[in-house]
Amino acid sequence: MSLQAKIEDKSARVAIVGQGYVGLPLAVEFAQAGFRVTGLEVDGARVAALMRGESYISDVPSEVLQQVIQAERFTATSDVGVLAEQDVIVLCVPTPLRKSKDPDVSHIVAAAREVARGLRSGQLVVLESTTYPGTTEEVLLPMFEEGGLRAGHDFFLAFSPERIDPGNPTFRVKEIPKLVGGITPACTRVAAVFYRQIVSQVFELSSPTVAELSKLYENTFRSVNIALANELALICRHLGVSVWEVIEAAATKPFGFMAFSPGPGIGGHCIPVDPFYLSWKARLNGYEAKFIALADEINRTMPRFVLELVTDALNDAGKPVKGARILVLGVAYKRGVGDIRESPALEIIEELFRRGAQVQYVDPFVPTLTLPGHRLEAARMNRELLQWSDLALILTDHREFDYEAIVGHAPLVVDTRHATRGLTAPEGRIVRL
Ligand SMILES: NC(=O)c1ccc[n+]([C@@H]2O[C@H](COP(=O)([O-])OP(=O)(O)OC[C@H]3O[C@@H](n4cnc5c(N)ncnc54)[C@H](O)[C@@H]3O)[C@@H](O)[C@H]2O)c1
Repeated sequence: MSLQAKIEDKSARVAIVGQGYVGLPLAVEFAQAGFRVTGLEVDGARVAALMRGESYISDVPSEVLQQVIQAERFTATSDVGVLAEQDVIVLCVPTPLRKSKDPDVSHIVAAAREVARGLRSGQLVVLESTTYPGTTEEVLLPMFEEGGLRAGHDFFLAFSPERIDPGNPTFRVKEIPKLVGGITPACTRVAAVFYRQIVSQVFELSSPTVAELSKLYENTFRSVNIALANELALICRHLGVSVWEVIEAAATKPFGFMAFSPGPGIGGHCIPVDPFYLSWKARLNGYEAKFIALADEINRTMPRFVLELVTDALNDAGKPVKGARILVLGVAYKRGVGDIRESPALEIIEELFRRGAQVQYVDPFVPTLTLPGHRLEAARMNRELLQWSDLALILTDHREFDYEAIVGHAPLVVDTRHATRGLTAPEGRIVRL
């Protein structure tokens, strides 16, 4: 039976390597579509949690995980030996940056080494991790062909970028069109058939490099446009104009404009990281990317700008930062998720501690927070807590917060997300970015 036929009748066995924000939702999606899926994960604690039916990713409810486990459609393991038994292997491992901001593809290489060890005829391997253009062809292909098997003839290899937006209920795995670029047309075709089992729109591209580059362009586009909105916020501050009103006004144009929001800085595993995969590769090929460096520079000034807003607001109320009681609302890098990787809140809270402030935080998605020299537990939001504070600092606009109560009971509010839109308070009590 051909691989394509096994995929179409759902008898193909699927392994998803890396069970994080990307890998777990994908594994569950294929399991729900009727495949037998193995989640391969190096972190033993994660494997144990998954096998207990406990999800640690907010987009995957534990009940859904339990259903696919009970239906014997999903299992998790750390045993790389299972790879050789699979028909399709999808790599969803992390791609961080080194301290030097160069790409660190060591997780991809480590996972691919295990795949190469058990590679056999008839397997499809897809890389989903965001990475620099050329990774699939220059790094994976030679590793997989070393044993004598040929891509497009014996096995299939493709790149298909993950575009999931954690915490976004409108666009889940199913609703987000997939890009697929294979080493050969046969590789592209098989990978496209695979993704059509769970996604309604799949676009076939001419190569893995185009697919790798499109993903980097998408995220660089976000980074640059967020930086432009952030710079507009800095300009508006100097002009005494509301940046939010300006952006909302511009957004009434029905063509040629797309609204991006300023904020306390960028976070997560993608926007602060991915553009550097592109500029690194460009540099190796003799071109110095300019927008990427500038956008990063502007985005990284934002936590300092927020500290300036806090300091000025306290100063206007006759209080120094030292000893001030600051209630931070939201520490996740964006609304609706518990991801604190690269979150600007970390830098802001660390600096507030360094300046002698007392800090408590509330975040329905982040129960504890460890910073150098401090371990914080999320406080319970109530009127007393708001009244305890000298200043409430909104860093993440979680839907779970009662902004009316925040504005009603906190003596001072600094809002970096326009979460208090439409709410009013006596002069100077709400400071907006
Ligand atoms: N988080 C997002 O919103 C998002 C969106 C699109 C693309 N991506 C990209 O997807 C990739 C994965 O990101 P993520 O957010 O899911 O990361 P994550 O850290 O949440 O999950 C990765 C998982 O892989 C595991 N892992 C690492 N090496 C492994 C190995 N050799 N074998 C098995 N498991 C291994 C880790 O323990 C971890 O559980 C990255 O390249 C990222 O840039 C992420």
